[in-house]
Amino acid sequence: MNERLANIKQEILDGIEKRANSRAEAFELRKQFLDSKVGAIGQLMKEMRNIAPEERAAFGKNVNELKEWATAKFQELDELMKKRELEKRYASEKIDVTMPAEQIKNGNLHPITQMRNQLIDVFSGMGFDIYEGTEIENDYYNFTALNTPKDHPARDMQDTFYLSPEFLLRTQTSAGQIHVMEKRKPPIKILSPGRVFRSDDDATHSPMFHQMEGLVVDKKITLCDLKGMLDMFVQKIYGEGTTTRLRPSYFPFTEPSVEVDVSCFECGGKGCKLCKGTGWIEILGAGIVNKKVLENCGIDSEEYSGLAFGIGIERTAMLKYGINNIKTLFESDVRVLDQINDN
Ligand code: DAH
Repeated sequence: MNERLANIKQEILDGIEKRANSRAEAFELRKQFLDSKVGAIGQLMKEMRNIAPEERAAFGKNVNELKEWATAKFQELDELMKKRELEKRYASEKIDVTMPAEQIKNGNLHPITQMRNQLIDVFSGMGFDIYEGTEIENDYYNFTALNTPKDHPARDMQDTFYLSPEFLLRTQTSAGQIHVMEKRKPPIKILSPGRVFRSDDDATHSPMFHQMEGLVVDKKITLCDLKGMLDMFVQKIYGEGTTTRLRPSYFPFTEPSVEVDVSCFECGGKGCKLCKGTGWIEILGAGIVNKKVLENCGIDSEEYSGLAFGIGIERTAMLKYGINNIKTLFESDVRVLDQINDN
């Protein structure tokens, strides 16, 4: 009998060594020996009655000792398995807090959009409404109503993409002036941003570019109002000390017409490469709305007068961000676009 006890002990030791690799396996092994119904040690207890009465007490004692030993052994095994499983879990869930964090890259608006938004901000602060015209226009709105009839030499100033003898891709946002003045009575104060098209292509010209037209029509509008608004605009875009100067020019839809220069924001007017030593940079065309244009739209030119200006959005952005080729704005090279974040 004692040999059987010794065998069971050995089986337990072997089992622990070879078959217990997890808590679940250890539990199964324990059941094999210690389960009250099917366990091998429990089984021994049931055999008590087959043993000679004088040996029974000693046998019982031995079985009990084996049971206690096995219970302690399995307890120990369970603790060990628990520890190993935890270690495994910790190892698999380990986080290296010294690893560099993944960089989150934020996109930003295209420089043309940024500039467009800044211009809208500046002028809506002065009470301008937005009017968005259409990119396809007819000859009347783009030219004739703007005092540029068919044989007018000023048509040569803009190389036009014609879609048909009648329709064209607008060459200037000035076309929007006519639509607005036909529909609304003064006072009018609108800003019209949008794409324009000309057959023109070099470092500072692109066949498609963006303009922002401004139009104010009211009683007693003068060049002083224009100068005041433009000064405000350049100060907001190019910095506090910036100012403008007006030079006589010619556009068919304004009389008088002016070319507007901004004082060089790079050198403060002393003369540098950007302003070609003059202290001034040409930025836009403007003027007092030609009486003929007001009359074409049914506005009494004796009672009302107007001012208008046309800003090139690419040009304004190129000057502000130090871009010297307009193509840079259309190539969408992220290395360039990443550097311009002004909103
Ligand atoms: N439309 C002109 C151009 O594209 C720019 C311009 C000049 C607009 C004078 C105006 C203006 O409103 O008054 O060259």
